[in-house]
Amino acid sequence: MSIDFDTIVNLAKKRGFVFQSSEIYGGLRSAYDYGPLGVELLRNVKEQWWHSMVRMRDDVVGIDSAIIQSPSVWEASGHLASFTDPLVECTNCNNRFREDKLDDPDQCPSCGKRGTFTEAKNFNLMFKTHMGPVESPDNAVYLRPETAQGIFINFENVRRTSRMKLPFGIAQIGKSFRNEITPGQFVFRTREFEQMEMEFFCRPEEADEWFEYWIEERKRWYVDLGMSEDNVRFREHDQDELSHYSAGTFDVDYRFPWGFDELEGIANRTDFDLKAHMERSGKDLTYFDQESGERFVPYVIEPAAGATRTTFAFLLDAYDQEEVRGDTRTVLRLDKRLSPIKVAVLPLSKKPQLTEISTRLAQDLRPLFPVEHDVTQAIGRRYRRQDEIGTPYCVTVDFDTLDDQAVTVRDRDTMDQDRVSMDKVAAYLRDRLG
Ligand code: GAP
Repeated sequence: MSIDFDTIVNLAKKRGFVFQSSEIYGGLRSAYDYGPLGVELLRNVKEQWWHSMVRMRDDVVGIDSAIIQSPSVWEASGHLASFTDPLVECTNCNNRFREDKLDDPDQCPSCGKRGTFTEAKNFNLMFKTHMGPVESPDNAVYLRPETAQGIFINFENVRRTSRMKLPFGIAQIGKSFRNEITPGQFVFRTREFEQMEMEFFCRPEEADEWFEYWIEERKRWYVDLGMSEDNVRFREHDQDELSHYSAGTFDVDYRFPWGFDELEGIANRTDFDLKAHMERSGKDLTYFDQESGERFVPYVIEPAAGATRTTFAFLLDAYDQEEVRGDTRTVLRLDKRLSPIKVAVLPLSKKPQLTEISTRLAQDLRPLFPVEHDVTQAIGRRYRRQDEIGTPYCVTVDFDTLDDQAVTVRDRDTMDQDRVSMDKVAAYLRDRLG
């Protein structure tokens, strides 16, 4: 179903997925904190990405590089010179905007006046700070605006130590920072965010083939995790949209409430980055192919996704409402691998005969799955809460349990209920949750 923006933002806040950063101080625009459910969902998205991009492959390895790197990295990569967005200012209300994101390039979205924009100037998105106790131009450093450069500068370290042969990839998940001119749309565009990036090194003549391969592979990933195919599309960048390093980019777009917008960019970065770092550092980053005896600089295909943005898209995609016996049921139909809580254990009443059993059962299930033990409120309201946060199974301990040593397991999607013997409930859930 299509869902409006406010509904999902309200659900995310109400249920503890995402909070505004520094909320008690009025909120810091463009940064967010992930609450108890949000952190689990975000971790699950990252884990699924790592699982498919690293663990399930013998041609990709992982890395976790520093956020603060030598400023030479950003000089070489071109970010200091070219990582800019076009900034315009309204001379009437003094608000600033990203020119390429304006609905009408002649009308200020804030005060509504026409013809009041200044000439666009290039605004660099890098966050600058200083390393050490003295603030001087000599010790300026930058927070990374992409995780990719940490991979390029470690290309030779990884190749040598892991003995990888082309084609092979290096993957990384981590925080990136961009001083966006117009952050907004909740966690879609923020100044601090998380990326999931993989640089796939290959022979130059094989780059086009790998580009196609990774486009298909990445589409498969989203759909396999339950994202509706109708809501995902691929869009090739026009020449004037390409980043300074790219010979070709495909965006994976998702149908957000405001229209299709970018989830991931898949780019052919050619040999741009390795060559740039070779020139700047003086280090040899060429690859020697023992079979052919050739030495060359590999090309790179890069699938670069946003973890925080993707988490938001999965939330939107999973949101559903249906009529059940005259009531509206809200349910997050998240893929089970993404659900923050996999099993809710619910005693029918707060009576100690039941809570003693449910406490023990929850304890037994905890080593296997993320479990929530909820004893408060009427059972209907507890089911509703679990539906709203996407919990695939609710296990209810009732008064019959005292006699038959069995519990009722309710399926989130079908609402079907099975009576399962307590000594079989772990296996029953394991079969269904994997
Ligand atoms: N290394 C290539 C690179 O960084 P990008 O298209 O600029 O490419 C990759 O970024 C992904 O990172 C985007 O598709 C998006 O999902 C995420 N991303 C970029 N800027 C973001 C921001 N300000 N807030 C949230 N996510 C962002």
